[in-house]
Amino acid sequence: MKLLITGGAGFMGSNFIHYLLNNYPDYQIVNFDKLTYAGNLDNLSHVENNKNYQFIQGDIASQADLKKLKKHKFDALVNYAAETHVDRSILSPLEFSHTNALGTHELLEFTRRGQAKKMIQISTDEVFGETQTKEFFEDSPMRPNSPYSASKAAGDLMCAAYVRTFKTPVIVAHSCNFYGPYQYPEKFIALSVTNLIQGKKIPIYGSGSNVREWIYTQDHCRAIDLLLHQAETGRVFNIGTQERFTNLEIAEIILKKFNLDKSRLEFIQDRPGHDFRYAVNSDKLKKLGWQPQTKFMQGIEQTIKWYQEHQSWWRKLQDKNYQQYYQAQYKAKGLS
Ligand SMILES: NC(=O)c1ccc[n+]([C@@H]2O[C@H](COP(=O)([O-])OP(=O)(O)OC[C@H]3O[C@@H](n4cnc5c(N)ncnc54)[C@H](O)[C@@H]3O)[C@@H](O)[C@H]2O)c1
Repeated sequence: MKLLITGGAGFMGSNFIHYLLNNYPDYQIVNFDKLTYAGNLDNLSHVENNKNYQFIQGDIASQADLKKLKKHKFDALVNYAAETHVDRSILSPLEFSHTNALGTHELLEFTRRGQAKKMIQISTDEVFGETQTKEFFEDSPMRPNSPYSASKAAGDLMCAAYVRTFKTPVIVAHSCNFYGPYQYPEKFIALSVTNLIQGKKIPIYGSGSNVREWIYTQDHCRAIDLLLHQAETGRVFNIGTQERFTNLEIAEIILKKFNLDKSRLEFIQDRPGHDFRYAVNSDKLKKLGWQPQTKFMQGIEQTIKWYQEHQSWWRKLQDKNYQQYYQAQYKAKGLS
């Protein structure tokens, strides 16, 4: 099989490339990535000399860049390329439409032209908006609230239109939050762990009562493996674990693992428009035979260990106190 992984130099894309090369050593992988601040070829240093792996730099929203792939025909394309950080989407929303809406649309055209036999669109539970108590199903209405989730929803809606109008073979996967190795240290769990290692505090937006559902990287890779090999195209799947915690609970779990107390928490003013709770129902995927294997308490331990053992990887990326930095930017722009 020959696979195109877009955004393969980011957090989940690089985890999936490692997963593929470990589990399917005969597959040929092309990683196409623009290398934004979140794209990091250090994530792939172990595989850069693998004869079945190739990196091509390019923007998924640029037709000229996509032409760099013209000599290839792929059995499948898995799209991880995206602008992904909600705080950044509040500060520079247009970049999000460029990649998440227009870029996804270009990849649909790429697939429609036959350059890939199918496309898997990696999307998020955030497109459904927030819910106080319910779970979202695959056909729940999309009610995104941030420029990030709205731009992802735009990409997903175009996927649905291409399935219906052109019968383009696409599968959309709405996932809950990922955590694990190689996550950029601006995201909540990676930030909390790397801050504690440096003797800093964990910043908590608002009261920390916002609820998120969490999946460990390997479990997400196994879900995409299943969709790639066994799911019918034209379908939509949720990927979740039902392991749902408030941000404060997550921070307290991490503090406990470091034997630290709540004096290492710092409550800061909330992010504008912060969604209260996300929760997805994943029964449809479970019927295909998938189950998460890593419980949060085990995954968080593995994640902390990874960040403790790979300090040279993240220390060069963590040049700011991210949450406080975004909060100051909101104030400067009159957003809070
Ligand atoms: N991180 C999460 O918790 C989470 C949860 C659900 C869904 N998702 C989705 O999973 C996917 C991957 O997320 P992640 O956290 O690994 O992202 P990330 O921010 O770590 O990496 C994104 C990658 O995409 C690349 N990229 C950005 N714009 C590009 C463009 N125009 N052309 C080509 N490459 C480009 C970046 O260089 C980077 O390598 C995204 O689609 C995201 O919306 C993420």
